[in-house]
Amino acid sequence: MSSDYLRSLYSLDGQTAIVTGGTGVLGRGMAMALAMAGAKVGVLGRRKTVAQDVAAQIEARGGQAMALPADVLDRDSLVAARDSVIERWGGVHVLVNAAGGNMPGAILGDTADVFSMSAAAFKEVVDLNLSGTLIPSLVFGEAIVQAGGGAIVNISSMSATRAVTRVAGYGAAKGAVENLTRSLAVELGRRHGDSIRVNAIAPGWFVGNQNRALLLEADGTTLTKRGAAIIQNTPVGRFGVPDDLAGALVWLCGPGARFVNGIVVAIDGGFSAFSGV
Ligand SMILES: NC(=O)c1ccc[n+]([C@@H]2O[C@H](COP(=O)([O-])OP(=O)(O)OC[C@H]3O[C@@H](n4cnc5c(N)ncnc54)[C@H](OP(=O)(O)O)[C@@H]3O)[C@@H](O)[C@H]2O)c1
Repeated sequence: MSSDYLRSLYSLDGQTAIVTGGTGVLGRGMAMALAMAGAKVGVLGRRKTVAQDVAAQIEARGGQAMALPADVLDRDSLVAARDSVIERWGGVHVLVNAAGGNMPGAILGDTADVFSMSAAAFKEVVDLNLSGTLIPSLVFGEAIVQAGGGAIVNISSMSATRAVTRVAGYGAAKGAVENLTRSLAVELGRRHGDSIRVNAIAPGWFVGNQNRALLLEADGTTLTKRGAAIIQNTPVGRFGVPDDLAGALVWLCGPGARFVNGIVVAIDGGFSAFSGV
């Protein structure tokens, strides 16, 4: 084994990657990481100007990117995005399903009884995170197979495997995302071998737009009671930052992970390992 070979395992040169939710905090970090690893990146989100801004930031650092205004729950908009990527860059090799998150209506009040939960909001948050992972996987996954193979990376959460207070719908959705990750890995592996793999990353606690108010007070720096409890239960003693995801993401998307299929990688500063004592 040579050092060149080892380096090539972490290169995405010649690949095209789509990041749904590329307009968000974690999504834009992951889009940048893929671009810096050599991929041409489609930044997908509903807000066109924000997607354009993220694409411009990638290009300013020497990468290649395009904005893809689309809604992960609207198949037609995803098909249009996929077709524009294929027209410009010839194919798709990587999909990162980062669109999602919690919704204010689906978060129980601090002292609220569980029976006050809105079933409609529960359904909505499950739909965004679960269908919002499935539909892009179907639309772009097919293109990945047609291009000769690649990888899908889904984004789970600490709430997938253990109950996190006040966010039952989000937890149920992310639990289902992990299960879907395994199903897609098995279905695609059995049909296409190791040419297309499906894995997930479960981030610990990061400050995104969708959860900022749960973690930080309005001044943007003081921890809420919940934010302080999270830091207390994160052995390394801090929230994650988007760059913390880069290494595992590039590994999962590239040839270095060619025999890795159907797993969930926790990137959580030790949160999931800690008993709390
Ligand atoms: N932050 C954390 O601690 C944490 C931990 C674990 C997992 N996660 C997961 O990581 C992912 C990113 O979260 P984040 O914290 O970075 O949140 P964020 O900053 O709010 O970004 C989420 C992005 O999702 C996009 N989105 C929402 N609905 C969409 C739709 N229907 N179609 C297309 N895009 C849509 C939004 O873009 P547009 O408004 O432009 O559509 C938004 O930019 C989510 O799946 C979240 O559940 C986050």
